[in-house]
Amino acid sequence: MSENNQIRKVVNSIEPQSVMEGAGVKLRRSIATRQVDYVDPFLLFDHFGSHDPADYMAGFPMHPHRGIETVTYMQAGSVRHTDSLGNSGVISAGDLQWMTAGSGIMHEEMPQQGADGHMEGFQLWVNLPAKLKMSPPRYQEIQADSIPETKPEPGIRVKVIAGEFAGQRGPATEIAADPTYLDVALDPGVTFTTHIASDHTAFGYLYFGDGDFGGTFASATKLLIFGEGESIQVTADKIGAKFLLISGKPLGEPIARHGPFVMNTQQEIMEALKDLREGTFIKQS
Ligand code: FE2
Repeated sequence: MSENNQIRKVVNSIEPQSVMEGAGVKLRRSIATRQVDYVDPFLLFDHFGSHDPADYMAGFPMHPHRGIETVTYMQAGSVRHTDSLGNSGVISAGDLQWMTAGSGIMHEEMPQQGADGHMEGFQLWVNLPAKLKMSPPRYQEIQADSIPETKPEPGIRVKVIAGEFAGQRGPATEIAADPTYLDVALDPGVTFTTHIASDHTAFGYLYFGDGDFGGTFASATKLLIFGEGESIQVTADKIGAKFLLISGKPLGEPIARHGPFVMNTQQEIMEALKDLREGTFIKQS
């Protein structure tokens, strides 16, 4: 089989939808919408950010999560956070926050106004398998300077956030769904090809520029879900392209979701709500 036959085609091109979340934060959601509920093992993908602080300053006051992992990757500005494990700090441009909610975590995420008012980033929810949904919560913060950036060929820059690429391993490890999370920047006209395990779900999030994704032309901003195959091929058009390339192993388990809780059954959702009402939500702090 030639390399060409194995290149994954785009099976769904998603226009992010504007939603209001938290205490009044405007963001653009591509997964967890009426159009696409989830892309196993990924449960939600949000792109937040604006040059107008009024769009984000209300932030996300204290709220719970159970049964998932969240990965927040900042592009500009910063977010101050605290949680029920006793963590607190600020994540800034290029930093990553990876949180395993497990049995339950309460946290607050409050965007901070930067010098130029610009705040931007991405949040991905990754599902936990049934056997880990009630595991102890865990939290990890990864500074920008510990995320390796590789230049495999002229005109290609790749930050390896999770998984492996060109011999580099991303610092976000031990995420249950074993995801690969790359931040790719291509100069105009340059072609990028990479292998992705054929049993992994894969999508791209084009946040700047335009280009050809496995035969489909796309302009920012779009989330592109890839179909079956062995590799991903992207060719940037005239102004270059910047995109996240994310893949992971589907869990193939039933999903019951209710806001910040994602479990396997409705009964488990009811238990989460009951725990919250009765003050027994936090099992470990
Ligand atoms: Fe949250």
